[in-house]
Amino acid sequence: MAGEFGTQFMPQMTISNYDNGWGEMQTVDADKICLHPGAHVFHYASTCFEGLKAFLHKDGSVKIFRMDKNIERLRQSSELLYLPPLDLELTQNMITSIVGQYKKEVPAAPASMYIRPTHIGTEAAIGKAAAPSDTSLLYILLSPVGDYFSGGEASLRILLDDIGVRCGPDHGMVKGGGNYASALKHCMRAHKEHNAHQVLFCPDGDIQETGAANFVLIDGDTIITKPLDDSFLHGVTRESVLTLSKSRGMSVEERNFGVEELLERCAKPGTEAGLAGTAAVLAAVTTFIYKGKEYQVGSGEPGPQIREIRGALNAIQWGEAEDTHSWLHTV
Ligand SMILES: Cc1ncc(COP(=O)(O)O)c(C=O)c1O
Repeated sequence: MAGEFGTQFMPQMTISNYDNGWGEMQTVDADKICLHPGAHVFHYASTCFEGLKAFLHKDGSVKIFRMDKNIERLRQSSELLYLPPLDLELTQNMITSIVGQYKKEVPAAPASMYIRPTHIGTEAAIGKAAAPSDTSLLYILLSPVGDYFSGGEASLRILLDDIGVRCGPDHGMVKGGGNYASALKHCMRAHKEHNAHQVLFCPDGDIQETGAANFVLIDGDTIITKPLDDSFLHGVTRESVLTLSKSRGMSVEERNFGVEELLERCAKPGTEAGLAGTAAVLAAVTTFIYKGKEYQVGSGEPGPQIREIRGALNAIQWGEAEDTHSWLHTV
């Protein structure tokens, strides 16, 4: 896939406007929208979005991975941002309609069609700093994407940041633009000062998530990750990885854990660490940077368990293993 991840778009998208109710779905050119400069979204960040993927199977069919989960999360983000209530059926129709239109453009695995539903507050009202937008726009963009790590296996350097916070502590489960805006300065500092790929936010030592993925630690046959609360995004990949780990006979510990325990476990040769998210799937972390020192994770190389769990997830997505959990929706 030419170009950087997420920079190519299909020429059309589906849209619907909300104004005292949702308007009919329309299919329009995807290179522009027309909004008043006073639109709520530009001033008060009334924006949330989703990221999910459609895959081409060998029999020519196209399958969307866990669409219901992503629609439900967009509903929840919209509710927490006081955007108009999402119509779940309309949203699903908008997604399947535009993916159906571009079925022939869905690239073969490991590439996929990335789907970006976006919901924004459109009311021209610059006095509504402390009030929601009464009108909104929902649109579904499509972007064909290649393998996030271009065929190679990830080997990530991650900065542990126990001072910075990604977003307000009660706002992490919203997939909203504001959270990415507040995380950006920490991510930039991690790149610039530590040559790190990402920041793992761990305010007061509590291991949360990175700027664009959830975090899992694997020690022997145990997979450890933070339990769901309001402080971080409830990843669809995280949940899928935990389900697959359980069916591999691993024990899943959803519990809070701190930097000290993380680094202690990383010093053991078999330990593995990974980032779970739609874009990166499950990518190995091989180095942590903490207070100016570098810590190798286990052997310092991407480990076999992360590779196998990622393989099991990809096999379902790509139609190479049976979809026993009914995660795929045929377009
Ligand atoms: C902040 C953040 N955490 C976690 C995730 C992982 O979520 P999912 O697995 O649903 O893509 C993402 C998005 O991909 C994210 O942006």
